Amino acid sequence: MQPGQTVLINGASGGVGTFAVQIAKSLGASVTGVCSTDNVAMIRSIGADLVIDYTKEDFSRTGQRYDVMLDLVGTRSLSDCLRVLTPRGTYVVVGVRDMGRWFGLGRQTKALLLSPFVRQRMRVFVVRHNRKDLAVLKELVEAGRVAPILDGRYALGDVPEALRYQGEGHSRGKIVIGTGEAAVP
Ligand SMILES: NC(=O)c1ccc[n+]([C@@H]2O[C@H](COP(=O)([O-])OP(=O)(O)OC[C@H]3O[C@@H](n4cnc5c(N)ncnc54)[C@H](OP(=O)(O)O)[C@@H]3O)[C@@H](O)[C@H]2O)c1
Repeated sequence: MQPGQTVLINGASGGVGTFAVQIAKSLGASVTGVCSTDNVAMIRSIGADLVIDYTKEDFSRTGQRYDVMLDLVGTRSLSDCLRVLTPRGTYVVVGVRDMGRWFGLGRQTKALLLSPFVRQRMRVFVVRHNRKDLAVLKELVEAGRVAPILDGRYALGDVPEALRYQGEGHSRGKIVIGTGEAAVP
């Protein structure tokens, strides 16, 4: 992201989205987050300039265009997603809510196959943990520009329950497994 660019984050209220909103803001982007009604205030509070409540409004029909769309849930067709991009915009698929038979890989494959035939860029993001990125994240956290949003804490013995909850696809930020003392807001 470059300062002044616009980004739409579909699935802004989850474990990935709450970091994405804050990181994009810290890079100077104008951020629009998509989430359900209960999470609108939280997404605003972590810096989103605009929030679209997907239970009330379809982001692909607002007429708004973005330089980047970060898709964490894959709830709209690829043609809907292309429609919200500027002519040289970039669509980035990170995750798919309905994994289906091929663990959601169908969407990634379609995006890559479509890429040479459209003006916009279609990208698939797969995280690679590395020291350099973690150092950047650490700096952002220490500078108070990014703060983890924690949904809840589960003891080690309750991992199955934590995974069940996570699997429902409506986590509000990150889920913590462990028995430490840090408070969950
Ligand atoms: N590619 C990679 O390297 C990578 C890395 C990590 C994760 N992932 C994938 O990325 C995806 C997101 O991960 P996560 O940890 O953020 O998941 P998560 O914590 O479960 O969050 C999912 C979010 O999606 C939102 N959501 C559900 N239905 C929606 C809809 N129709 N429109 C918009 N938002 C909707 C939920 O918000 P509401 O409760 O407000 O509905 C929830 O906050 C998952 O598929 C995960 O597997 C990929």
